[in-house]
Amino acid sequence: MPEYHKSIMKREVLRYLGIPTEGVIVDGTLGDGGHTEFILNNTAPEIRVFAIDRDRSAIERARERLSPFRDRVTLAHGELGDLKNLVAQNGITQIAGLLMDLGVSSPQLDTPDRGFSIKHDGPLDMRMDPSQQTSAADLLRKLSDAELVSIIKNFGEERYSKRIVRSIRKEQAEHPIITTGQLSRAVSRVVRSPRHSRIHPATKTFQALRIAVNEELDQLKRALQDVIGLLSSTSRLVVISFHSLEDRIVKTFFRDEQKGCSCPPKIPMCICGRTQTLKILTRKPIMPSEEEIAQNPRSVSAKLRVAERVYA
Ligand SMILES: C[S@@+](CC[C@H](N)C(=O)[O-])C[C@H]1O[C@@H](n2cnc3c(N)ncnc32)[C@H](O)[C@@H]1O
Repeated sequence: MPEYHKSIMKREVLRYLGIPTEGVIVDGTLGDGGHTEFILNNTAPEIRVFAIDRDRSAIERARERLSPFRDRVTLAHGELGDLKNLVAQNGITQIAGLLMDLGVSSPQLDTPDRGFSIKHDGPLDMRMDPSQQTSAADLLRKLSDAELVSIIKNFGEERYSKRIVRSIRKEQAEHPIITTGQLSRAVSRVVRSPRHSRIHPATKTFQALRIAVNEELDQLKRALQDVIGLLSSTSRLVVISFHSLEDRIVKTFFRDEQKGCSCPPKIPMCICGRTQTLKILTRKPIMPSEEEIAQNPRSVSAKLRVAERVYA
């Protein structure tokens, strides 16, 4: 069994959630349950956690780990983008905080069969929820050249997207691309990593496909929209993101919700009717300490942002 995922900035997460004395905290990305366990271990028994993951194998692993807290935790299979329905189906109308620790977990990355890893050869899958229909190999097969270029360029922030797609098509003309090894070789044929860099040349392409397969940015946007109607006054929203696209979505959302009114400045009176719903508590994102990065190199790109619900 792979090692448990190392939870990032656990203490910061707990501190920023504000440690309410009662209510339901939602862990929207349960993973191996490390953050949930830490929250349960360090809060009053009246605090319950409702935790969601789209990966059933994560839920099973976490269920075992969280068994000492079985009276205080509910685990649900589902998507962040369906947050509103998931909490409603479980009889929850208000929440005392939401944590989203985005991206993939170490067990997902380190299990070659899941197809997320550049390092280990495996099926080109990348579905966080294996019951979902479309895998990364399906996307490579179905998308047009222009769609694939756009995904690699925008979600991977990859400047060589066109030549990567040409190389993928060349490979596909001979064999369907169905393994991570085939994809990483097709990219490596046309992209070199900068000298002395330890980053694999296919990293950005893999990231782009993973985001597309799992519709990660859409999921995040939908969860952010949903949570506003669920957070009770002064409850906190804590988001850990791992790449600039996610972080930009969170930053912009927080800023817009703090501002409220979106009318152009020229208009003398507000006509949009929008009011402030969030107060930003982290002007700049919180990053892991050097000590944490040394112990857990995967934490290096993590950015934590926090906002508090306010009612105008
Ligand atoms: C970085 S891990 C979370 C690790 C966890 N905080 C811990 O301490 O063990 C992210 C988890 O969130 C899940 N996930 C990512 N996006 C999701 C989404 N849109 N809906 C539901 N689960 C999601 C992944 O399947 C993965 O298990």
